[in-house]
Amino acid sequence: MLHTDARHGGFLIFYRFLTFFLQDLSKIFTILTILFMLFSIAIYKNGNLEPKHLPSSKIMAGWKTWQDKNCQSCHQLFGLGGYLGPDLTNSVTEKGKPYLKVFVQYGTARMPNFKLKEQEADEVIEFLAWVDSSGKSRVPAEAVEWTGNYKLQER
Ligand code: HEC
Repeated sequence: MLHTDARHGGFLIFYRFLTFFLQDLSKIFTILTILFMLFSIAIYKNGNLEPKHLPSSKIMAGWKTWQDKNCQSCHQLFGLGGYLGPDLTNSVTEKGKPYLKVFVQYGTARMPNFKLKEQEADEVIEFLAWVDSSGKSRVPAEAVEWTGNYKLQER
């Protein structure tokens, strides 16, 4: 007798818990729905996709020239790109703007002269300075495998 009672009691507790939970479930969902809506409104209002967060128009113009002339086919940014020319990620801090501008304006035996206007050359350098300010990266040529992949040094 005692045995069945205990089982019955256990079931009762489970049943109470279940009904309590189910009753509250709709409340929980209502609260979650309201929170979701508030969250959506907050994101919509505070979204940071406004133009003020974009780089300056000079940098964007340089970026466009970078793409139009396909500089990336020979140069890498953060290790990605072609390997005929050097990685330019941190070239501005390492070599300075005037030095780089000479390459951009006149080319060399291995780098074509794109006959960029003075302003376009400045814009490309501004773009490179902007890239430079975003982080440090230099993949040494000897770390690059024949496939174009490279291994990062272990710390
Ligand atoms: C056909 C491949 C090629 C293309 C395309 C190319 N470059 Fe180069 N670039 C090179 C090579 C090779 C060098 C190394 C120059 C040398 O030693 O003769 C170089 C050097 C440079 C340098 C000097 C880097 C340093 O650390 O000394 C800058 C800056 C540069 N290029 C910018 C650009 C820009 C900007 C573009 C696009 C407008 C571009 N390059 C397109 C091949 C290229």
